[in-house]
Amino acid sequence: MVSTKTEIAGFEFDNCLMNAAGVACMTIEELEEVKQSSAGTFVTKTATLEARQGNPEPRYHDVPLGSINSMGLPNHGLDYYLNYLLELQDKEPDRTFFLSLVGMSPEETHTILKKVQESDFRGLTELNLSCPNVPGKPQIAYDFETTDKILSEVFAYFTKPLGIKLPPYFDIVHFDQAAAIFNQYPLKFVNCVNSVGNGLYIEDESVVIRPKNGFGGIGGEYIKPTALANVHAFYQRLKPEIQIIGTGGVLTGRDAFEHILCGASMVEIGTTLHKEGVAAFERITNELKEIMAEKGYESLEDFRGKLKYID
Ligand SMILES: Cc1cc2nc3c(=O)[nH]c(=O)nc-3n(C[C@H](O)[C@H](O)[C@H](O)COP(=O)(O)O)c2cc1C
Repeated sequence: MVSTKTEIAGFEFDNCLMNAAGVACMTIEELEEVKQSSAGTFVTKTATLEARQGNPEPRYHDVPLGSINSMGLPNHGLDYYLNYLLELQDKEPDRTFFLSLVGMSPEETHTILKKVQESDFRGLTELNLSCPNVPGKPQIAYDFETTDKILSEVFAYFTKPLGIKLPPYFDIVHFDQAAAIFNQYPLKFVNCVNSVGNGLYIEDESVVIRPKNGFGGIGGEYIKPTALANVHAFYQRLKPEIQIIGTGGVLTGRDAFEHILCGASMVEIGTTLHKEGVAAFERITNELKEIMAEKGYESLEDFRGKLKYID
């Protein structure tokens, strides 16, 4: 029997596939649809303290090899997602869900996390340190000093299971520096990667999204090698208590297989879910199980992190 079940921070999930934050998770209706699909769980849209409209449209565009977006963090605000999750955890006590959040300033991030800490929320919290699309704001995770400061402040009061969503890094020294910071904290997971920041896609003579004169985060097929490199770089460098969620460029079961081979304990699907809908979970799960069966693997543990090198 081939199983794709997994575990993060001691919580069990029937399937290792789930949505990536920002796709199919803005409304309760969308979250319910993911919950009822073959996905193992869901993560909410990244919530800010107050609801946000986000950037003017068009702000997302499907392209042949993926997607480009500059959403500007549209969301219904923390209370919308937190209240829903608080109800859900009583209705479905055997399942665990992810709440994604970030403040528009460090102060707001602390206000949000303190609210979650003081609530009865029993799920997993993902702090989005990698939001490339809010004009005028640098993304936190590219500023190691700020990242270290925020994490040290957060862990002074936050005791629930917490992970961080990271942008891709492209330099070995940055992998080393980032991992050295993360290893100082009781993080439960890192999620690699968010969109590859600030690409530009052109059709005829024009950009395809309105914000930032067309610059936007890239997802989908384009980014798989970068995503796999980040998953594996952190798998090699982080203490074993910090698990990895692999995100980026998953179109097929083979892509999910590669993320797990690089060390991922959970695999998220963004652009493909946007293009294909929740049926993608069943298709990709079946493809992954087929590969595992062919190779004689019964569980993810049989091959997680076991990427082979050439001597
Ligand atoms: C429309 C859209 C909205 C997104 N919003 C968020 C978000 O709110 N928070 C977050 O952490 N990542 C967000 N992302 C990034 C995705 O979660 C994911 O990291 C990225 O798209 C790479 O995965 P993919 O190649 O499967 O698309 C968003 C991506 C897209 C396409």
